[in-house]
Amino acid sequence: MGTLMRQPRLRYAVIGAGAGILNAHRPALALPEVDLAAVADVNASVGRQRAEELGCAFYGDYRQMLAETGPDVVVIFTPPFLHASMAIDSLRAGSHVLIEKPMAVQVSEADAMLDAARQNQRLLGVFFQHRFRPEVNAARQLLQQQVLGQIQRVELIATWPRPDSYFKLASWRATWWGEGGGILTNQASHNLDVLCYLLGQPTRVVAWTRRLLHAIETEDTVQAMLEWSDGALGMLHISTAEADRPERLKIVGTHGSLELGPGELTAQILDVDMRDYQVHCSDPYESPRARPYEVTWEESTGDHVAVYRDFHQALLNGTDLRSDGIHGLEELELANAINYSSYNHREVLFPLDQLDYATLLESLRQQNN
Ligand SMILES: NC(=O)c1ccc[n+]([C@@H]2O[C@H](COP(=O)([O-])OP(=O)(O)OC[C@H]3O[C@@H](n4cnc5c(N)ncnc54)[C@H](O)[C@@H]3O)[C@@H](O)[C@H]2O)c1
Repeated sequence: MGTLMRQPRLRYAVIGAGAGILNAHRPALALPEVDLAAVADVNASVGRQRAEELGCAFYGDYRQMLAETGPDVVVIFTPPFLHASMAIDSLRAGSHVLIEKPMAVQVSEADAMLDAARQNQRLLGVFFQHRFRPEVNAARQLLQQQVLGQIQRVELIATWPRPDSYFKLASWRATWWGEGGGILTNQASHNLDVLCYLLGQPTRVVAWTRRLLHAIETEDTVQAMLEWSDGALGMLHISTAEADRPERLKIVGTHGSLELGPGELTAQILDVDMRDYQVHCSDPYESPRARPYEVTWEESTGDHVAVYRDFHQALLNGTDLRSDGIHGLEELELANAINYSSYNHREVLFPLDQLDYATLLESLRQQNN
């Protein structure tokens, strides 16, 4: 008789099981690698109900859960202002951590989380599931292979229409104390993450944040100008007050361009790189010709299951984590820098001064107390 290969299983625990986002996690919590030991929530009635549905223990106090269940992996989907302390507690308790975006509300907290991960030699992953979208990865490949030449221009427009009823779903939403921002630290964290994933973190930003429509403390609309270290220039416009295309990212290089949207990627290639054209074209008015560039991608889904699968690969087989905290921090620093630029009416160079940012955030919290 042959030996039966047993599926390796990881002991899991969840903090914030009553969250609306649990539904996106349910298929992943049913993966064969997941042995869900317990869930915690301060809301005991919903927490108990979720524990019953998921067939695991319930705790009202997550610290007690960590101490008594000793999970391999802790998944955190509480409101953002709790992310840093809960992640650090879990890492110090010896667990690996998978945390919902944004990984924290300010970049100094994200740094402290990464320090805790390093000191305790644990993995810290963030739910940036858009990194697993096939069209995002096809775009990343085009950029890595330098098919577009030297990047010159980046335009990102993303609209996430939300009515006021959305912001009333929970008291922490769109507040300075609860999430340290509006669209910047909530919906658009995915857009900022894709931007940094594809192009790296910008090095300079000038921005305006506005509250155009909603009865909230924080911004619902953002306009920003960006610059990267290689000289690429960009703009972004994001809003929960507008209803336009959900995502349009255009990247123009000296040798071609691409346009990315949900489930869509098109690319064009020039018959001559602009760097050669400007030197060698003898006709003062001739433009380079563009032709469609065929883009192919592998089937995959940009969902929560993909993030868990990648995390399991990293834990069980030692592969690199695609959605890791080190890179998760980049979009948070960009969000903080945009906010800082708007309130201080000046450009911000990276790295963002974390103490100055903490002072700004504290004063915004005080003003809205
Ligand atoms: N990746 C995505 O696409 C995506 C989508 C939606 C939300 N999110 C993120 O998920 C997180 C949760 O969002 P939501 O809208 O589902 O939240 P929610 O307000 O619906 O739920 C938060 C839960 O945390 C619990 N909680 C609060 N304090 C706690 C404590 N001290 N201990 C234990 N539990 C506690 C609450 O009781 C509640 O059940 C946020 O960070 C949000 O940005 C991510």
